[in-house]
Amino acid sequence: MTIDTINVIIIVYDCIESIQRLVKRGVSALGRVIFVTGFKGGVGKTTVSANLAATLYALGNKVLVIDGDFGMRCMDMVLGLESETLFDCSDVLTGRCSPTAAMCEVRNRTGFSFIPAPMNLADEKIPKSAFADFINEVRNDFDYIIIDSCAEMTDYYMAFAATADEAVIVTLHQSTSVRAAEKTAARLSMMGISKLSLVVNGYRASFAEKGKLPDIVEIINRSSVRLLGVVPYGEKLQASQEAAELAFMGDMKKKASKWEAAFYNIAQRLCGKRVLLFAGAESLKKRGAYKGIALQENREIREE
Ligand SMILES: Nc1ncnc2c1ncn2[C@@H]1O[C@H](COP(=O)(O)OP(=O)(O)O)[C@@H](O)[C@H]1O
Ligand SMILES: [Mg+2]
Repeated sequence: MTIDTINVIIIVYDCIESIQRLVKRGVSALGRVIFVTGFKGGVGKTTVSANLAATLYALGNKVLVIDGDFGMRCMDMVLGLESETLFDCSDVLTGRCSPTAAMCEVRNRTGFSFIPAPMNLADEKIPKSAFADFINEVRNDFDYIIIDSCAEMTDYYMAFAATADEAVIVTLHQSTSVRAAEKTAARLSMMGISKLSLVVNGYRASFAEKGKLPDIVEIINRSSVRLLGVVPYGEKLQASQEAAELAFMGDMKKKASKWEAAFYNIAQRLCGKRVLLFAGAESLKKRGAYKGIALQENREIREE
């Protein structure tokens, strides 16, 4: 082999490696679009969307939350941004403003953004393509885009669902709710969303132990959807929501609550980590002690 041939081989090898790197970077730069849904109201879709988003952010990701519940806008309240928003999704979808202009930061945290649902939807027909354009425009800037959905299959529900890479279906710890989740999964599969997972919200272990409610094994057996996680029932969670508190957003030196630990496990599993369903539920740690939780000070240093 001549030296020229070796040089050519080296150049070709370098080129292939660069292309592989570019492809890898390109793929990882695309944010995962997660549609949080279920054909039942009050099961916890908004609660799961907000706290999962906050936990993913705390784990060092850039996260955008979109309130896709055009009928019942309330994510702004849950995120504590009720009086902070100027534009909404409909302004973006109709081209009145850019997605960036409609975003507001959650708790002034760079990389944790939110776009609200319209308060009143004017009588304007928004084409499905506008939803795809909207998501395509923002997906390069975030690691995760969480779309909180409504409970009815409206045109806008379908249009948002069509932009998603995957769906997290939320069910309450009740047989009827699990059945509704199954129906949701079937419809989403028909739409071509193949990556589906289930979150059981409001789980009451003591009721399951007494046989008053199905236990986790029964739910797994009853459901065709992969179980992503279980959020315990907690009155404290309701109180926290009233105070617009979010998982891993409070004092990092304070102990995490049971529901925060549950969202930590869910976020970890979503990121592909092998974590047991109820891992750490009985031995809660200080928020900042959870592996991978990026403290705000460290995050700012890392982003500079
Ligand atoms: N795990 C839970 N424990 C206790 N209350 C919960 C839990 N999850 C949600 N809730 C409460 O249930 C109500 C409905 O939740 P929400 O997230 O708004 O449901 P959806 O978006 O599906 O309509 C809210 O008042 C919320 O605080
Ligand atoms: Mg909701």
